[in-house]
Amino acid sequence: MRVDKLRIQALRCLDDVTLEPAPGINVFVGANGAGKTSLLEAVFLLSHGRSFRSGARDALLQRGADTLSIYAELIRHGSTRRRLGLGREGSRWQGRLDGQGVRLSELVSECAVVSFDPGSHALIAAGAEERRRFLDWGVFHVEQDFLALWRRYQRALRQRNSLLRSGELANSLYLPWEQEMDDTAGVITAWREQYLAQWLMLVAQYVGQLIPELGNVTLRFRRGWGEGLTLGEALVAQRARDLGRGHTTQGAHRADWMVNYEHAPLREHLSRGQEKLTAVACLLAQAALFAKHAGEWPVVCIDDLASELDTAHQSALVAQLGDAEAQILVSGTDCPASLRSEARLFHVEQGRVSPLL
Ligand SMILES: Nc1ncnc2c1ncn2[C@@H]1O[C@H](COP(=O)(O)OP(=O)(O)OP(=O)(O)O)[C@@H](O)[C@H]1O
Ligand SMILES: [Mg+2]
Repeated sequence: MRVDKLRIQALRCLDDVTLEPAPGINVFVGANGAGKTSLLEAVFLLSHGRSFRSGARDALLQRGADTLSIYAELIRHGSTRRRLGLGREGSRWQGRLDGQGVRLSELVSECAVVSFDPGSHALIAAGAEERRRFLDWGVFHVEQDFLALWRRYQRALRQRNSLLRSGELANSLYLPWEQEMDDTAGVITAWREQYLAQWLMLVAQYVGQLIPELGNVTLRFRRGWGEGLTLGEALVAQRARDLGRGHTTQGAHRADWMVNYEHAPLREHLSRGQEKLTAVACLLAQAALFAKHAGEWPVVCIDDLASELDTAHQSALVAQLGDAEAQILVSGTDCPASLRSEARLFHVEQGRVSPLL
């Protein structure tokens, strides 16, 4: 899929920007603080309903503005045109698809963007939540019922947590919610495992091309509760402890995964650059797996390419992306030499974006 037209209004320093990215590689060049990251952030928002930068969604709103809107015309499968909108009016966020108001979950299911940015090493270096989100984004685009099941799980989890917080002891009040968590977590976990098995093969391929010196890559998946027990059994066994803590300490909401290398068995063995390259391999594999299932590549955003990777790894990444036939949006203070000949260039300056010939 690709973004054919983009209009951004009142997002951070982008007051009112309209642009038409090329189908292939697009490079956004500008000084620090010009608005490059904000531009990629807008595209990412359409596919995730949240930013890749930390902080509240409302911080995206231009200072002093009370509305924000992002509009994109997306070409899917080379021909179908979808019109996507995301905006905030008053205190509400609103999605639009081909002129109709839709829930954000419907909007984000239409648009797929994979982003590599200065925060991406968190996928490897930070806590489990980041990795769970990443995994579930992938599963969400493969399994149509994932979101509905995940919502059922979350609802049961909230109910159980509120019983725990109120110090409730009656077994009969817990059991229905624990059963619901067990039912839904079983399916969610099976989907996650299936996804990761396919994904790992692609990760191994990209790692082999980007960081072969680390040797073979393996994956460790933790489903979130102990081996040899159903989640229902684990929850009953854990209840007294959970009552002390006031929340549910085991379950599908505690799942995690980690890739391990033959020559760097611990996460702490990786340099910062190797963490970033691992994150790149994970993201590319996710994009490739999306392409396998959806029959088209997601849009790939790379924020601040040159500051993230050395020139050899930049070239290796660009070569991989060239093979991918994805639309690519790259930002930087300069245009990387490896992209100069084939990219459409845009200049970003004080929140304005203009094409460079
Ligand atoms: N809510 C907001 N309202 C107005 N301006 C904002 C808001 N949030 C951030 N900004 C400003 O928007 C500008 C653009 O930020 P952005 O991160 O997009 O720049 P950038 O081009 O990626 O810079 P860098 O090269 O430093 O990464 C900054 O000057 C920032 O201070
Ligand atoms: Mg930036």
